[in-house]
Amino acid sequence: MEKKMNRREFVKASLATGALVLAGDMVKGGINLAYGAVKIPEVEKATVTVITDNYYDALKQHYKIARRYGIGIKPGTDPYKMNLHAEHGLSYHVETVLSGNPHPFLFDYGVDFQGVSRNMELLNIDFRTLEGLGLSHGHFDHWGAFLEILKSKKEEFRKEIPLYIGEEGFVERFGQFPGGVLSLGRLKREDVERLGFIKVVEIKDPTPIVPGAYLTGNVERVTEYEKGSPFLLIERGGKLVSDNFMGEYAVVLNLKGKGLIVLAGCAHVGIVNIVKHAQKMTGIDKVHAVMGGFHLTGAKPELIQRTVADIKAINPDYIVPTHCTGYEAITVFEREMSGQFILNTVGTRYLFTV
Ligand SMILES: [Fe+2]
Ligand SMILES: [Fe+2]
Repeated sequence: MEKKMNRREFVKASLATGALVLAGDMVKGGINLAYGAVKIPEVEKATVTVITDNYYDALKQHYKIARRYGIGIKPGTDPYKMNLHAEHGLSYHVETVLSGNPHPFLFDYGVDFQGVSRNMELLNIDFRTLEGLGLSHGHFDHWGAFLEILKSKKEEFRKEIPLYIGEEGFVERFGQFPGGVLSLGRLKREDVERLGFIKVVEIKDPTPIVPGAYLTGNVERVTEYEKGSPFLLIERGGKLVSDNFMGEYAVVLNLKGKGLIVLAGCAHVGIVNIVKHAQKMTGIDKVHAVMGGFHLTGAKPELIQRTVADIKAINPDYIVPTHCTGYEAITVFEREMSGQFILNTVGTRYLFTV
């Protein structure tokens, strides 16, 4: 109770002193990498399994590279017990394959422990084989279930498994909502380390999470229209300021002969910025797939149009908007890029092969 009072007072004080920057802030920053600074190894195969997301359809059919998890997929399975959980959250299991060797890792962890852990069970996620953990950014919908998952599978994780996390990944975030300023949570470093088997690795440069998969590190901002939301805030130096998501990272793979696979969390830094950063970082212009939350829910139509136009110009073979992309933007991607568009549903396993 005392903490809540202090928090409210703190927010009130920030508002009163004008520390809260709400509108018109140009998002700046990121790392200006040399073209081709990262020699990303080619993978001969990769799978991305969406453990949780905002949408589930148990009757959706397989489509191109997307293998659905739904009714009838496993003969003999009780349809009452096979339904997956969907939520405002995101979690992926990713596996790269190099020289015949698989390298699996998790990227983001959703919100609801019961739902996410049940999905993991139904999707046969094997914790014993995981080689790394990554977190896209510090919002609760990407790590809410994290600590409980770690605790419940403590015996299965390998010791000293690295958790790669970006700048300000452990700082409290806030959102300005119609009802006032709300905390969007804070993952505490001490809670992670107390578990005793995680090695926290804070990064800001491009870093491999497993062989063949890089985290982008701080993303260079090149588009002038991807400014982020004025309603998303971060606590810095005792004040609430606009969050420029300096430490928000995406995953980049390089599929042999096909090009880059870019996997975003929320893309608050802008999905076009992320993809262009991935191209510059690797020196590879061909993009095979762009997946993830593009944070266009509630966005003005002009922002959606410009984003879709630039992704269309990049011309990936597949575009898979998930999570916070939002219905309006998803339908524009589907209309404008119908041959490349795949509608995600929870449990879908994307099979990338050469
Ligand atoms: Fe999110
Ligand atoms: Fe977010």
